[in-house]
Amino acid sequence: MNDVATGAPRAGAALRIDADRLWRSLMDLAQIGATPLGGVRRITLTDLDRQGRDCVVGWLEGAGLEVRVDAIGNIFGRRAGRDASRPPVVAGSHIDTQPSGGKFDGNYGVLAGLEVVRTLDDHGIRTEAPIEVAVWTNEEGTRFTPVMMGSGVFAGVFPLDYVRARTDVDGKTVGDELRRIGYAGTAPTGTPVGAYFEAHIEQGPILEDTKNTIGVVTGALGQRWYDVTVTGMNAHAGPTPMKLRRDALLAASQLVVEVNRIAHGEAPHGRGTVGFMQVAPNSRNVVPGEVRFSVDFRHATDAGLKAMEQALRAACARVGAACSVDVAVEEVVYFPPCRFDEACVAAVRSGAQALGLPHMEIVSGAGHDAVYVARVAPTAMIFVPCKDGISHNEIEDAQPADLAAGCNVLLHAMLARAGVAV
Ligand code: HGY
Ligand code: MN
Ligand code: MN
Repeated sequence: MNDVATGAPRAGAALRIDADRLWRSLMDLAQIGATPLGGVRRITLTDLDRQGRDCVVGWLEGAGLEVRVDAIGNIFGRRAGRDASRPPVVAGSHIDTQPSGGKFDGNYGVLAGLEVVRTLDDHGIRTEAPIEVAVWTNEEGTRFTPVMMGSGVFAGVFPLDYVRARTDVDGKTVGDELRRIGYAGTAPTGTPVGAYFEAHIEQGPILEDTKNTIGVVTGALGQRWYDVTVTGMNAHAGPTPMKLRRDALLAASQLVVEVNRIAHGEAPHGRGTVGFMQVAPNSRNVVPGEVRFSVDFRHATDAGLKAMEQALRAACARVGAACSVDVAVEEVVYFPPCRFDEACVAAVRSGAQALGLPHMEIVSGAGHDAVYVARVAPTAMIFVPCKDGISHNEIEDAQPADLAAGCNVLLHAMLARAGVAV
């Protein structure tokens, strides 16, 4: 394999990462926020997130990297290259998890980047361009929206002040929580990136089903998220006749069915999910007067996303009238479908080929920090299978050999872009 930038034969063609060390780091980090079913609950900007961050920063510093933290809490570990004037080749992902998250979602991409650095050190390899490992803040968007928050600020998608002011259901702000855990950094954000690679479990069943080890990710579905608030009237469950009620939960329940109907109507790439719901006053003998719920729409085309939104708004008007309730729809996340950089995708594909790994092209149904980084730097992703395609679930699992294979592809793709100093 020759180096893309210099054309020189790549010194590291036979290079392999240390699979046991990668696995151990994943299992060690998974202890922070470990849950009974073997998952991880390390929600963004909580004390457990701070513990996870402190652990990874310790490992980055232990690998001799120069660590900096930017104003939204993104962490970068930098390994010098021969040519300091070249922008770094970066590998990263996130270490915040879903409430019922797993050991590998996000954590794998960060620790695979660290393993690449450790492997280069083991073999005394110096790259032409610097190498960086990135940990993005709040990729999951489960406590604070928008999703992919840290990479979004880095890419200039969200203004810093807007994001700092975002609140969770308890009214706590991103800015206060960043300060509280000690990760309101001072390093500049939006620094130059020569190329970005993110290794991630697929979080779906395709690779396992087709017996492929590597997913050469060409892009990701677009997403639109909404907060829907249904306002009716609290009323006594006994004296209030059925036809005189303004039952917010009845309306919300009908809208959940509508979200599913809309997504099925946009097959095969349409996705619609209601994953969060709050019912007030949530008392067994009170007709619910207010319901707040989330809508997560995804699609392969922007037009498809728009059509889903129009259908949702029409359904809200129709059901609202039928149930005599008010329905407010606020869009809280939008990003169009994205395609990754051809040269970076080619570096991933040639890495898989050179390593003799069964691979296929695939579009990501999940959003990733790579989607926003792709707006400011050449970007690609590497998928590996996860057991039964299950993720965002405590039982999320992956094979050490697959994780190592993906990390070896990451190593070779990064060397192809960074160049090896001779
Ligand atoms: O929702 C997503 O696609 C990502 O897991 N945050
Ligand atoms: Mn993820
Ligand atoms: Mn996730």
